[in-house]
Amino acid sequence: MNHEKNLAENIDELNRQKNIIRQLRIKYDEEYKKTGKHKTYVVKTYGCQMNAHDSEKLQGIMEEIGYHPAEKEQNADFVIYNTCCVRENAEQKVLGNLGSLKPYKEKNPNFKIAICGCMMQEEHILKKIKEKYNHVDIIFGTFNLYKFPELLQTHLETGEMIIDIWNEHQDIVEDLPSIRKDSFKASVNIMYGCNNFCSYCIVPYVRGRERSRLPEEIIAEIKALVQDGVKEIMLLGQNVNSYGKTLENGYTFPSLLEDIAKIKGLERIRFMTSHPKDLSDELIDVMKQYDNICKHLHLPMQSGSTRILKQMNRKYTKEHYLQLVEKIRLAMPDISLTTDIIVGFPGETEEDFKETLDVVEKVKFNGAFTFLYSKRTGTPAATIKNQVSEEIAKKRFNQLLNLLDPLIYENNLKQKEQIVKVLVEESNQQDPTSLTGRSDKNHLVHFKGDPSLIGQIVPVKITEVKTYYLLGEKVNE
Ligand code: SAH
Ligand code: SF4
Ligand code: F3S
Repeated sequence: MNHEKNLAENIDELNRQKNIIRQLRIKYDEEYKKTGKHKTYVVKTYGCQMNAHDSEKLQGIMEEIGYHPAEKEQNADFVIYNTCCVRENAEQKVLGNLGSLKPYKEKNPNFKIAICGCMMQEEHILKKIKEKYNHVDIIFGTFNLYKFPELLQTHLETGEMIIDIWNEHQDIVEDLPSIRKDSFKASVNIMYGCNNFCSYCIVPYVRGRERSRLPEEIIAEIKALVQDGVKEIMLLGQNVNSYGKTLENGYTFPSLLEDIAKIKGLERIRFMTSHPKDLSDELIDVMKQYDNICKHLHLPMQSGSTRILKQMNRKYTKEHYLQLVEKIRLAMPDISLTTDIIVGFPGETEEDFKETLDVVEKVKFNGAFTFLYSKRTGTPAATIKNQVSEEIAKKRFNQLLNLLDPLIYENNLKQKEQIVKVLVEESNQQDPTSLTGRSDKNHLVHFKGDPSLIGQIVPVKITEVKTYYLLGEKVNE
């Protein structure tokens, strides 16, 4: 009953926002008739794929109102920054870019700036923006993105700075207009938020508590995308392995993945991120059973030291991680495994760091994102006294890369002479006669070919391998 009531309220809210978009469109068209000039917008996205997916909704709204995309912020009439705060350098970049927009605003008061996303959920940042960056017109957060049309309308009517930040989620309002970057692949949120509270991480504070979308809604969205020509779907969640915990019927991530894999015409399924603490045997079984589930698993280890993992509140040990990798490789020997590693977590000793190197050597990852620990205000790790000096952290970081890169290269050598299926994504920017795409195992592959192949899955024989990409030749099927 409660659920039905919520659903009805969400539909009402969605219709209200869509109505506002229509009103804004009428105004836009009237202005266009007078000026004969289209207005342009840029949405700049920082951070992870969740943010990129949110940006597709912002782009959809802007284009329904009438705005056309611009290449650069400097040439646009409207700029939206969708921000990330997972590490300090992401924040510095946003503030730097925001500062450099000030002269444009001074020259042209009709130039509009909106800023949203994870950074806006941090009190100290919000305060800073209000005080030092008062050339911003609209500020909103991660929980009320769907209200953007209404905030925009209020700003256009009053000319005032509009700030609307919520501290927690209220509804999941879906089905706003959205622009997909590529016609052949799409991201689908299966859940929002995170309950894991890893001690270094700001995400649970800025994205709120974990909540899963209903399976029937997810499946309907994917079926519609497939009908629309989408070949590859990326399922998004901060920890997909806890999907379903907030639902009533005991439906889990492996059940969802299996139901999605059965959708006719869906050629590739990817998902991220999988937390090692609750990756189940059922998930491994489903991955193994279905050809359209990509044989790639992103399994962030963060550290190889059980002592540090405990301090990080990751809820697994070094041994558990290694056993899990063994189990996965036993089931799917040629699976590609990638990871995230943080170097310089507070209190990390040389011994702890050696444990990380040890896991890297044992697992021989196919790829890794490596990060220097970044202190995030408000997280438990930020208060640990014993922070690692920048000098030591950087030294360890380089040491880690020096170990990782040759191992990745060695792994890539196994791909040589193999025929891999590549979903062609774009023409190569440096060389327009070349195409770039991704293999099932998520390797970046470059090969010569005609741009008409973009959006298709084609067989490519790998002729040369590098650490970060593979080179090949298209072959006939
Ligand atoms: N939910 C995902 C990760 C989201 S954040 C997961 O748990 O795997 C992406 C990565 O950023 C994390 O895996 C972690 O390696 C890194 N990260 C998060 N907070 C960080 C911090 N404070 N300093 C450095 N790296 C961090
Ligand atoms: Fe952050 Fe941990 Fe949640 Fe990932 S699982 S988003 S690292 S708190
Ligand atoms: Fe993603 Fe950054 Fe937010 S990693 S969830 S955009 S803090």
